[in-house]
Formats: sequence, C-alpha cells, structure tokens
Amino acid sequence: MGKGMILGIETSCDETSAAVVVGAKRVLSNVVATQFDVHAKYGGVVPELASRAHIENLDGVIQEALSKAGVGCDELDAIAVTCRPGLMGCLLIGVTAAKTLALAWNKPLVGVNHVHAHATSAAIAQPPDAPPPWPAVALVVSGGHSSLLLVRNPLEIETLGVTIDDAAGEAFDKVASILELGFPGGPIVDRVAANGNPRACDFPRTMLGRDSLDFSFSGIKTAVLYRVHGPGKTSGGLAKLSPADVADVAASFQTAVVEVLVAKTLMAVRQTGVRSVVVGGGVAANRQLRECLTAACTDARVTLHLTPMCYCTDNGVMIAALGWHLLKAGRVDTLAIEASASA
Ligand code: KG4
Ligand code: ZN
Repeated sequence: MGKGMILGIETSCDETSAAVVVGAKRVLSNVVATQFDVHAKYGGVVPELASRAHIENLDGVIQEALSKAGVGCDELDAIAVTCRPGLMGCLLIGVTAAKTLALAWNKPLVGVNHVHAHATSAAIAQPPDAPPPWPAVALVVSGGHSSLLLVRNPLEIETLGVTIDDAAGEAFDKVASILELGFPGGPIVDRVAANGNPRACDFPRTMLGRDSLDFSFSGIKTAVLYRVHGPGKTSGGLAKLSPADVADVAASFQTAVVEVLVAKTLMAVRQTGVRSVVVGGGVAANRQLRECLTAACTDARVTLHLTPMCYCTDNGVMIAALGWHLLKAGRVDTLAIEASASA
C-alpha cells in the first residue's frame, strides 16, 4: 500500500478541512477553514449555510492541503472522508468530492466515522514508537456529540453511552447565546468562567440512571435560562446581571458539565476495567475539563491521553489517521458509499 499516504477530508459540520497524513501520525499538512463568521449572528450552526460554505471552500482547502504537504495526487495511497454522522447536506459535499477524486485519480476510497475519528485522535501526537493507548475509554465531546466509547483498537469501537438530548458543546454554545457572549460559545465560556465563582449557582448534575453512561444536557441549559431571566422567564433578565454575575453563571455551568463528564468517564473506566482514557472533540479543548480529568485519572491511577488542542475541533488529520488504519485492514469502500446523518 505504498507509504500509507492518505488525504483526509472532513465536512460533517462547520469546518471544511483537508489534511495529508502518512500512516496514523506523520502529519504533512492540515488545512481548516472555519465558518465562524457565517454562523455567528445566528448563535449556532445553520445547516444550509454550512453546506454552501463547504461547496465554496472545499476545492481550495484540498488543493492547499496537497501543496502544503508537497504531494501530488499520484503519491496518495487513499482518500479518506467523513461519511457519518453529521449534518446530511454537509456530509454529502465531502463524500461527493471524495468519490469524484477517488474516481478521477483511481485511488481507494475509505469512509470514516467522525465520532470514531475523535475517539482515536489522542494517538496522533504520540511519539512514533509509543505504545498505543488502547484499550481505552474514549470521551468524545463536541458540538454534535457527547459519547463514551470503548476503543479496543481503532478498528473495534463500541458505544457505551450517548447524549439523549443536547451535546455538551451545544450546551456551551446555547449558554453563551443566553449570556450573549458570542459564537462559538465553548472557548468564550471557557475564558469568562475563569473569572467566576463555580459555586455561585447550584445547577443540576443530570446523571440519569445510577449506572447510566448516557448524558443529558438540556436540563442545565434551561436552568441557566431561568437563572438569568427569572423562574419560567426566557427574556428580560440579562441586563440586570453584572459582568461578575455573568462570570459566576458561566463558571457554575461549566463546573456542573465538567463534573458530569468526569464522573461518567470514571464510571466507564470502572465498568469496563480498562486503565486508559482518551479524550477528543471540540469540548476536549476546555481547560477545566482537561484539569479535572487529569486530577481524576491521576487519583484513579488511570493513564489519560488528551488530544492536542489543534486536533480537538474538527480536522482532516483525524480522518486521514483513522482512514489509514481502515485501509491497512482492507476496509475500503466503493463509490456506492453513502453519507449518513446518524452513527
Ligand atoms: O468537534 P467540533 O469542532 O465539532 C463537532 O463535531 O461538533 O466541536 C465544536 C464544539 C463547539 O460546540 C464549541 O463551542 C466547543 O466544541 N468548544 C469548546 C471549547 N472549544 C470548542 N467547548 C468548551 N470549551 C472550549 N474551550
Ligand atoms: Zn467533531
């Protein structure tokens, strides 16, 4: 299979990305076009606008990824593309582009599960000769997903729990929107929360069943809304809050979410008996989450592998890296591959 040089294409949500990676670790290029400006005024990703932006950006992003890597199409061993889960219109742009290139360049096509790519992204930055972090419990927390998975190895991944309503990142984005802090909310809440009192508001920690590894974040979002505007009210209260109050709400919200994420991750460790935890997805960039997981895993004597910040939010590198594992195992797709909104 040549050198194992993979072009990875990612368009499942609001980042248009392409990367060239050799094997699962040697990153030659990673080009990411964000769409913050397109969605900012709506306080969330608008699927139709996201699809259009992918159409406009993808060709240029792929060309830039190849030229930055100094690689011609003839040197590629495969084209990997996110085919599920995600926003249907967005996935279709990437999948159609990947099919077209696979056909035109006569290269194998590898469809990649986006959540599995986040779940394995912590391994990308490990030293080449480091032992792999598997088997591991993976916490994947992003704008579209909050999942716990058991990664036996990159090709054998089992879902242990998912969110039954909002994703963690979605909750960050909605709370930022309630507090009128801007979009995307996660990084801003992260910053604002650093100056607030995490015990100022008593927000719910929704654990669902006693042993449940599922998540629910819609209750806390509503609790924040009523804390800001008054019980049962959805507007009119923000003007009465000082910047310090806003920081307290952000800090209390973030702490509640982080406590649930950490508690459930450690619960998954106990239930599965594995001794390794990997964390990926946009919310894995959250500083409090990184600190609290580090402390909890140290206490539990479990090895924690945090995905480097640059590979937490959506990127083509993680798609290429998992694509390489799939290619090596012969798990190649045909041009009949279809995009799917669900996992
Ligand atoms: O993985 P990602 O780029 O896209 C999806 O697959 O959904 O994740 C984006 C999400 C957004 O909701 C964003 O607000 C959140 O990750 N995020 C953060 C932080 N940085 C990004 N959430 C909390 N703290 C952060 N520092
Ligand atoms: Zn993602």
